[in-house]
Amino acid sequence: MKNKFYVTTPIYYINDVPHIGHTCTTVVADILARLHKQIGEDVFFLTGTDEHGQKVADAAKEAGFTDVQKYCDDIAPRFERAWRNLNIGFDHFVRTTDPRHEQVVKDFLQKIYDKGDIYKDKYEGLYCIGCEKFLTESDLVDGHCPLHPSEKTVMQSEENWFFRLSKYIPQIIKLIENYKTNYIEPSGKRAEVLAKLRAGVKDISISRANVSWGIPLPWDKSQTTYVWFDALINYYSACQFLEAKKDFWPANLHILGKEILWFHTVIWQAMLLAAGLEVPLKTFTHSFYMIDGQKMSKSLGNVISPSQLIDAFGVDGARYLVATSFPRDNDSDVGIGKYKERYNADLANNLGNLVSRLAKMGQGLKIDTSKIEYDDQVKELIDDLRFNEAVLLIFEKWVNSVNLKLNEQEPWKKDFEDKTRQELLRWAGGELKKAAYHLIPFIPETSQTIIDLFTGVIKLPKEGLFKRVS
Ligand code: MSP
Repeated sequence: MKNKFYVTTPIYYINDVPHIGHTCTTVVADILARLHKQIGEDVFFLTGTDEHGQKVADAAKEAGFTDVQKYCDDIAPRFERAWRNLNIGFDHFVRTTDPRHEQVVKDFLQKIYDKGDIYKDKYEGLYCIGCEKFLTESDLVDGHCPLHPSEKTVMQSEENWFFRLSKYIPQIIKLIENYKTNYIEPSGKRAEVLAKLRAGVKDISISRANVSWGIPLPWDKSQTTYVWFDALINYYSACQFLEAKKDFWPANLHILGKEILWFHTVIWQAMLLAAGLEVPLKTFTHSFYMIDGQKMSKSLGNVISPSQLIDAFGVDGARYLVATSFPRDNDSDVGIGKYKERYNADLANNLGNLVSRLAKMGQGLKIDTSKIEYDDQVKELIDDLRFNEAVLLIFEKWVNSVNLKLNEQEPWKKDFEDKTRQELLRWAGGELKKAAYHLIPFIPETSQTIIDLFTGVIKLPKEGLFKRVS
């Protein structure tokens, strides 16, 4: 039996267009999915769009749509296209307005309701539409939501349905403390969540009386499901409504950004426990990209789109740059200037140049055909989402060593027939093939091109693999 590997990204709000932040989570999820496919596992990679709630309804209205569903149908494909253009090999694109998802949400809710974990109460407090989140006074910075300082928080006062989140907190604390794989990664985030849990947690409102764009509660059609309750269930619903994916729950890995840590490590776990389902094996919460030292924002005009990256660096160049600048533990400062430097140094000058020099020198030479196994050390680094370190190790093992030997032995000064020269070039071709094999998850197309060049006999590349960017 094959090992299964189920990896997800957050489902993105469709009121926005894809930017480098969404791109980073999606590219790294793709790298993990590709690695696990490459080593022979049965992989399910899910991404998609979050389409209900006040924010999306407002965006539809602003865009002149009276039918919100039409607006969603118009915008959701933009995300799908953006990911296809980046060669993201997702297995399913989930949309929360898919009736099949909606049915799973209703069943899920009904189950928890029947169990007595949902009750009616009055909600009074602040709500941030940007986050689609209920806020407390202590969340505010200068009277505003810290993530949406230019937007107003709204005072809400309505009869809502509440979920007994507090009931599950002791169980969640135990899970985090004792769980065999420690489901919250990286460890800093685990400590953050534990501290908040120990400080005390209140029940949460899970329905809205005045938001019509949502899934009606099965037992009270006058209220719609709180958009986060609906959205989180996507990870499970896809395994229900897709016949072939039924065995994939629980997910092996949810990847997400730091602003939605609580939803994914506490609320989601409590929902699953209440429904009698297994919790995900691991959540990985990364930090944020900053653009040239500043927060990315429309008003600053510094938003980088995935298509901008592809235009500048090609598909594989874009993927490589996003992965190696992944904000794993801390916010990471990126920008087109920095990307240019890294692209030229690693891909154009180093790898690209070496491959074409070697292919030219060794053209026609027979090359080693033995099977390559994926290196454990590299695999571990990728599984730990240490993409930059993984790439550095690949370069160190199979690229820098080749450069060094070539410079030492200067085969270009020797005769083509010279046996030591031929042996050296054959070895070097084999090493580059190993580099390419390990780079498949990062730069799949270019890796395949390199592998083809060094399979059978050494062939000449048609044109430079990575053109220098000025
Ligand atoms: N719809 C919710 C998620 C529901 S999941 C059940 C949502 N959507 S979002 O469109 O706002 O996407 C948020 C995610 O995009 C972040 O968690 C992160 O994965 C990614 N990023 C958005 N901005 C980012 C940066 N500046 N840097 C890195 N990633 C960021 O929240």
